Amino acid sequence: MGIQIAPSILSADFANLERDIIAASNADWLHVDVMDGHFVPNMTLGLPVLERLAQVSPLPVDAHLMITNPELWAPRYAEAGAASVTFHLEACDDPVALARTLRSMHTRASVALKPATPLGAIIEHLHEFDMVLIMTVEPGFGGQAFMPETMPKVRALREAANRTGAQVWIEVDGGISEATVAEVVDAGADVLVAGSAVYGAGNPHASIAALRAQAEGVHHH
Ligand code: DX5
Ligand code: ZN
Repeated sequence: MGIQIAPSILSADFANLERDIIAASNADWLHVDVMDGHFVPNMTLGLPVLERLAQVSPLPVDAHLMITNPELWAPRYAEAGAASVTFHLEACDDPVALARTLRSMHTRASVALKPATPLGAIIEHLHEFDMVLIMTVEPGFGGQAFMPETMPKVRALREAANRTGAQVWIEVDGGISEATVAEVVDAGADVLVAGSAVYGAGNPHASIAALRAQAEGVHHH
């Protein structure tokens, strides 16, 4: 599996979401940021919107839930059509149990860590997850500066996955652009979320192609 690109519609035009999704159809995933104004100090969109996005999107939906009580809500996003559901470790008491629930619904199960959250016990249970999302900014807003101090976690995950043979993808999210792609791919990331880098420059298709070309030039893990 090569590098995968997941445009974040947080930076798209919310009055023209279908148009902007189609404009990014050369990507691999559609990254949809769900915020509840509680786990993070911002709100975006919820279940009914995600359900329609999943219906019109040519790409599978990667739902990033920045919400409290993921035990209640994550399965509902799976039912709504998300092919991958990411919940936050900081909001969840039993991440392995929730991942098993999602997998039982034939949805990819993924856990996200904020920049200051250590890998902790996750590293012992990588086979329970289809993806781990290492946040490379504080969750809540697009357009923030990449935090290079998160790279040791990506390297440690990559090393553990390679050592154990766990088929877990490593996703990075926040401040990913042509200026930071090389660093995250070299550290071991294989799914790259990009919001402002894709939708901020006016040509999503070209931006996705440029990110992919740059990432493939570095990819060796
Ligand atoms: C931030 C979101 C990101 C955001 C990334 O909380 O999880 O997905 O859209 O935006 P950029 O790529 O602009 O940092
Ligand atoms: Zn996100």
